[in-house]
Amino acid sequence: MNDLRRLTNTILDTSATPIALQEALDELKDLLLSLTGIKGEGADHRNNINTEAGLAIGTEWAARCLDDTFRSVKFIRGVHQAISDRLSLEPGRPVELLYAGTGPFATLVFPLLARYKPEQLQLTLVEINDMSITALKRLFALSEYSGFVRTILHADCTKLELPNWETIDILLSETMQYALQREHQVPITQYLISKLRSDVVLIPQEISVGLAALSHLGGEGDWKLIPLSPLLTLSTAGFTSPVTTDGKTGTAEYPHELFLPARPEIGGVLVLTTDIHVYGTEHLGFNESGLTIAESIDVDGGGDTDRIFTWHYGYTPEPGIVWKWKPVANP
Ligand SMILES: C[S@@+](CC[C@H](N)C(=O)[O-])C[C@H]1O[C@@H](n2cnc3c(N)ncnc32)[C@H](O)[C@@H]1O
Repeated sequence: MNDLRRLTNTILDTSATPIALQEALDELKDLLLSLTGIKGEGADHRNNINTEAGLAIGTEWAARCLDDTFRSVKFIRGVHQAISDRLSLEPGRPVELLYAGTGPFATLVFPLLARYKPEQLQLTLVEINDMSITALKRLFALSEYSGFVRTILHADCTKLELPNWETIDILLSETMQYALQREHQVPITQYLISKLRSDVVLIPQEISVGLAALSHLGGEGDWKLIPLSPLLTLSTAGFTSPVTTDGKTGTAEYPHELFLPARPEIGGVLVLTTDIHVYGTEHLGFNESGLTIAESIDVDGGGDTDRIFTWHYGYTPEPGIVWKWKPVANP
C-alpha cells in the first residue's frame, strides 16, 4: 500500500507537473500489471466484445486507457471529490460506489483505496469481459483491497440486476469514445440511471457533444475552434438535446434539422466536439484527452451556401451521431 499511497499523492496533487503525473501513471500501470499477473498485451488480450448496445473494448485496450494521462488524472481526482463530498454528508456510513465497466484494474477508483478505509468506501464492480474480470478478481482478492469489495459481477451493465439499487450513492462509468460513438456509455448510463436513486451522483457528471468548425493555424497544437451548435447532453437528467424545447432527442424517423447559414470565412473542417464535466472542479475539454478530441465529419466547416445539418443519435449497427446534409428549400 505504501507505493500506491505515494502514487496517489502525486495524482491528487494539483501542483504536480504533467511529467510527474505521467510517471506516476506509468508506475501505477506497472504495479497493476504485476498485481494482476496479466501481460496486458498480445492477441488474446485484444478480445473486444460486440453486443447490440455497441462495442466493449478488450483487456489490452481497457488497460491502455490508463495511459491517457489527463483523462485518468481528472477522473481519479473527480471520483475523489465525489467520495469525499458524499462521506461528509453521512460520515458514519460507507459510500456505495457502482463502477460500470471497470476494465482489468478498476483504474479510476483503485488509487483512492490508499486514501480510505473499507468502513468509508464499498465498491460494486461490474465488467463484461471475462479476461478483464479475472484480472480484477485477482487484484481485489489481495488482503489490502478485498475489504473494499461489496461485490464483483461479470455482467452486461445494460441489463444489470442488483438487489440493492437504492443503496448506491455514486455511479461511475467511463465506457466511451469521443462523440459518444461506438462504446456503451449512453445505453449503460440511461439504463442504470433509471434504476438508481434520483439523488445518485453520476461520474462523468455531464458529457456534451457539439458541432463546430475547426481550423489548424499552423503550429503544433495551434487550433481555432468555432462552436456552431450544442447537439447532445448525457447527465442524470438523461440523454437530452439542448436544441429542442422539451430536450427530447431526435430519431431516424424524426431527425433534428439545424440550419447553418453560409459562413465561408470560417473555413476549416466540420467536427463533432466532446466536453466532459467529470465532477466538481474537474473538466476535460477540447484535445485534453483521447475522449475529447474532435471527430472530423466533413471537409467544409463554414459552407459557401446556407445548408441544413440533419442528425440524430443512432444505436445500430453501433452508437453514434448519424447525419446528412439537406439542401435549403428555395422560397
Ligand atoms: C474504455 S474501458 C475503461 C476501463 C476503465 N474503467 C478505465 O477507465 O480505465 C471500458 C470498459 O468497460 C467494459 N464495458 C463496456 N461495456 C460494458 C457493459 N455493457 N457491461 C460491462 N462492462 C462493459 C469494457 O469491457 C472495458 O473493460
